[in-house]
Amino acid sequence: MRYDAKKVQDYCAKVMCAAGLAEEAAEVFAEALVYADLRGIGSHGVTRLSVYSKRVASGVIRGDAQPEILSDCGAAIAVDAKDSIGAYVARKTVDWCMERAARLGCCCATVKNATHFGSGAFFTEYAAKQNMICFVISNSEAAVVPTGGAQPMLGTNPLSLSIPAQKHEPYVLDMATSVVARGKVVLAQKEGRSIPDNWGVDKYGVPSTDPAAILDGGAMLPFGGPKGYAISLMIDLMCSSLTGALNCRETPGFWNDFEHPQNIGYFICVIDPSKFMAADTFLRRVDDVLDEFKACPTAPGVKEVMIPGEIEANKYKAGLADGIELSDVVVRDMIETGKRYGVAADFL
Ligand SMILES: NC(=O)c1ccc[n+]([C@@H]2O[C@H](COP(=O)([O-])OP(=O)(O)OC[C@H]3O[C@@H](n4cnc5c(N)ncnc54)[C@H](O)[C@@H]3O)[C@@H](O)[C@H]2O)c1
Repeated sequence: MRYDAKKVQDYCAKVMCAAGLAEEAAEVFAEALVYADLRGIGSHGVTRLSVYSKRVASGVIRGDAQPEILSDCGAAIAVDAKDSIGAYVARKTVDWCMERAARLGCCCATVKNATHFGSGAFFTEYAAKQNMICFVISNSEAAVVPTGGAQPMLGTNPLSLSIPAQKHEPYVLDMATSVVARGKVVLAQKEGRSIPDNWGVDKYGVPSTDPAAILDGGAMLPFGGPKGYAISLMIDLMCSSLTGALNCRETPGFWNDFEHPQNIGYFICVIDPSKFMAADTFLRRVDDVLDEFKACPTAPGVKEVMIPGEIEANKYKAGLADGIELSDVVVRDMIETGKRYGVAADFL
């Protein structure tokens, strides 16, 4: 069924506040969850209300913590997230970077003591809509085998990069470095669906279509073979060695560890194109390139070539107009979660 996005967002914010999250952080967090559902990334949407609220209530996400800039060289800042909720910290850090990039041309930030931030596009598209180029990466708990390996060593380590355009929607690359996000396997299990056989392997290293076989002792596969492995390891190095956070092998589990804060890391970079050429010229040049791709002749059976982020941008607009599509099992879980914290399901 479809549900009004704003009502769902307000409900999620109320539940998170009731679980112990400060109001400002709860609002950004709820916006990030619903943003993912609107874009068709249900794996990172309201299906996670239950686990995030439990993480706040248990204290592994600190509901009242404020991230702090520990060192500031203008174009390079080091941030301590203080175990505050990921979406709030990453959004705030992008704001800090945009302020500095507008003065200095660019700004890079490392973030330590961070927690899962959800869908990376939430941060990079936000900056692109303000005419900044933005790159965000994060490490996460080990769930992916390296090429040739038989043990999970890397997280699904997401990467997002957005580039502003004027006539077109921004270019938005937003991806896990596993074949798909592990959350898609978790959601398939919740909804009783099987998965394609190229997403992951069971505990014996055999490809499986059963979500349980991947999640209980199995592993995800890196996208693109050794190239995906290489990019994922690059993300772990940038997000742990450079930030001071834990690496993927050391990171406590997001889904099952409610005693130890995750202490993952992010690396964020914002570039102001107007420091390289007139802003209008840059945006026109991006539009011209995207026009070329939209005009590309198509393969048999394909209607049009899509720009990265375009499918999601179309879904986002439709979702705002018609409501977000949520399965019954996800809605039941949201209602149960609200009950735990005394919040009535007023989004139905
Ligand atoms: N926070 C974390 O730890 C974490 C970890 C992994 C993934 N994630 C998030 O999970 C989400 C899903 O990741 P995913 O890898 O499953 O994404 P996906 O496979 O759905 O999409 C990946 C990218 O491919 C583009 N794309 C897809 N089809 C296209 C087409 N036909 N033409 C052009 N471009 C196309 C999309 O626009 C997107 O940029 C992302 O939001 C990611 O940030 C988060």
